[in-house]
Amino acid sequence: MIHINLPQIGEEEIEAVIKVMRNGPLTNALGAGPAVTQFEKDYARFAGVKHAVAVNTGTAALHSALVAVGVKQGDEVILPSFTFVATAEAVVMAGARPVFVDIDPDTYNISPTEVEKNVTKKTRAIVPVDLYGFSADVKPIREIADEHGLAVVEDAAQAHGATYDGKPAGVLADAACWSLYASKNITTGEGGVVTTHSDAVAETLRLLRTHGEKAKYASLMLGYNYRMSEIQAAIGIVQLRKLPAFLSKRRANAQRLTKILSKTERLQLPKETKSRQHSWYLYTVRLKDGNEAERDKILEELKKKGIGAEAYYVHPVHMMPYYRESFGSSKLPETEKAAKQVISLPVHPGVTEEQVNYIGETLLGLL
Ligand SMILES: Cc1ncc(COP(=O)(O)O)c(C=O)c1O
Repeated sequence: MIHINLPQIGEEEIEAVIKVMRNGPLTNALGAGPAVTQFEKDYARFAGVKHAVAVNTGTAALHSALVAVGVKQGDEVILPSFTFVATAEAVVMAGARPVFVDIDPDTYNISPTEVEKNVTKKTRAIVPVDLYGFSADVKPIREIADEHGLAVVEDAAQAHGATYDGKPAGVLADAACWSLYASKNITTGEGGVVTTHSDAVAETLRLLRTHGEKAKYASLMLGYNYRMSEIQAAIGIVQLRKLPAFLSKRRANAQRLTKILSKTERLQLPKETKSRQHSWYLYTVRLKDGNEAERDKILEELKKKGIGAEAYYVHPVHMMPYYRESFGSSKLPETEKAAKQVISLPVHPGVTEEQVNYIGETLLGLL
């Protein structure tokens, strides 16, 4: 099976883990051991910001970032529904009400026009998601936020390597949240990072990640255990060094797939723009004139032929029972339509040229 994503772990990561296992420390009670500190320094440089705060999942990154920018009980937070459920979970964990808005059908990212329409007196933050690894259109969202005094917390969980105006995704946000889950462009097994330009946000994030403590037994605020272990950070340091090579392989695979799939009119292919470059976390096509049953049939056939294609996110968050029952139903036509038509194809660095050809030709054959 050609998996949709596969962790790229080599001897260097294994050696880095063994070194921590032999010499310790395994973790640090305040979340800032030597490997975590080094990883944060490297990550901040990669993300083009002043601070990176490492945590134990992307979900923890989102939750702590929302709290750190000031989201609290009774606030509203605007976000897309066409995303992984963790984006919405974090909003609810911070005590706010998620306000789901529709997407731009070309990019699957939150529509700035829809964001603007949904700003109310209670809105406190906007959470654009860089879906499939393509940056949301953050500039107009930043302008809306500045006009209304709102925070922007970018969900960059899938965006390692994506750029906006030539800069890393996330730089226009007050805080950007990254996942290092096993499927991501780089991984520490489980893990997350928040990046920010703000000294104050970084300081609060460091408190939140370890029980509100700056010193032991002196909690300054309600905190959590969101610490990254030294073992995870040691893997992360190596993975980050390898990211440029991973990205160029993903890009080459994506370009090859685009060349093959351009032969059909039936698919909407992922596009980059002058201002936005993809991280190619997922290569997602859309069956333009297809319905859900037809899409599912294609997925099934691809799987039978050894291609691990997937459809993300077939149940948009606003339609999930918990969110519908807790926050009421909403109608998001573009989200609901996309959820029935998308297919993601493998382009990770482990996919060979021959396999890309096979994936492309097989899909063309099925169409
Ligand atoms: C868009 C998005 N947001 C949030 C997350 C949550 O990250 P994690 O699984 O590391 O908690 C993920 C990944 O799983 C994701 O893809």
